[in-house]
Amino acid sequence: MATSTSLHVWILIPFELLYLLLLTVVVQFRSLIRLLIPSEPKSIQGEIILVTGGAKGIGRLVCHKLVEKEKNLTLVIWDVNEKATSETVLELKSLGVKNVYAFQVDVSQRAQVEKTARKVRAEIGESVKEEVRRYPSKPNISFTTIYPIGIPTDFIAGVNIDMDRYKFLNNMLTPEFVASEIVEGVLAGKEHIYIPRSARFIRYITDNMPSEVTRKLFDFVGVPMEL
Ligand SMILES: NC(=O)c1ccc[n+]([C@@H]2O[C@H](COP(=O)([O-])OP(=O)(O)OC[C@H]3O[C@@H](n4cnc5c(N)ncnc54)[C@H](O)[C@@H]3O)[C@@H](O)[C@H]2O)c1
Repeated sequence: MATSTSLHVWILIPFELLYLLLLTVVVQFRSLIRLLIPSEPKSIQGEIILVTGGAKGIGRLVCHKLVEKEKNLTLVIWDVNEKATSETVLELKSLGVKNVYAFQVDVSQRAQVEKTARKVRAEIGESVKEEVRRYPSKPNISFTTIYPIGIPTDFIAGVNIDMDRYKFLNNMLTPEFVASEIVEGVLAGKEHIYIPRSARFIRYITDNMPSEVTRKLFDFVGVPMEL
């Protein structure tokens, strides 16, 4: 049922807008400080880390980078590809990681995800329970969103990802570089990771400029049709 905005809320609106303005200044200033003085990466010792699509491509390399940083952790891989998953598990074990668990699951199927989550809870349950016990009201789960551009993996095999005009942008992104950026960003507690970092600028243009300007920028760069 529609009700009218109370007088109390109307009175608060100018203060709330001022608050948002000040918050913007504080957050921007904090980002600048973090850029100049990066914080210590967080420790992943003893952590349980779930990597979806971890059998191949970027996911597999993310597992490798995590193990390079810390062997005393539990890696859980969810992937549809059973053969590749087994191979990756063997590789990771040979690198000396404490625990690796793999589950064949299609993460686009809700029922499969729920079933696998129940299995994980049963098989690796004690540690998960301990995590949740320590944070009964607010599980300590952080989310990071990755914004990569074309990366030469099986995922885009056969697709032309080369820029026609700004050719200096080509061949910049190897899957290894992308995996390093992801792991470093996650350990630094970043909420958004743009790969390459300059993609943030492109994102800013596409989000904030008229679409005519965005199209012109893409023409200048020579973005291929496939992207
Ligand atoms: N390669 C790129 O250019 C590019 C660009 C933007 C985003 N991405 C994203 O990055 C992620 C990894 O891509 P990649 O390049 O490493 O691809 P990849 O094909 O090399 O590896 C993807 C892995 O995910 C697994 N997988 C695919 N569908 C799955 C599903 N439904 N459930 C469980 N596992 C599944 C595959 O078996 C494979 O092991 C994907 O989410 C992709 O959308 C890739």
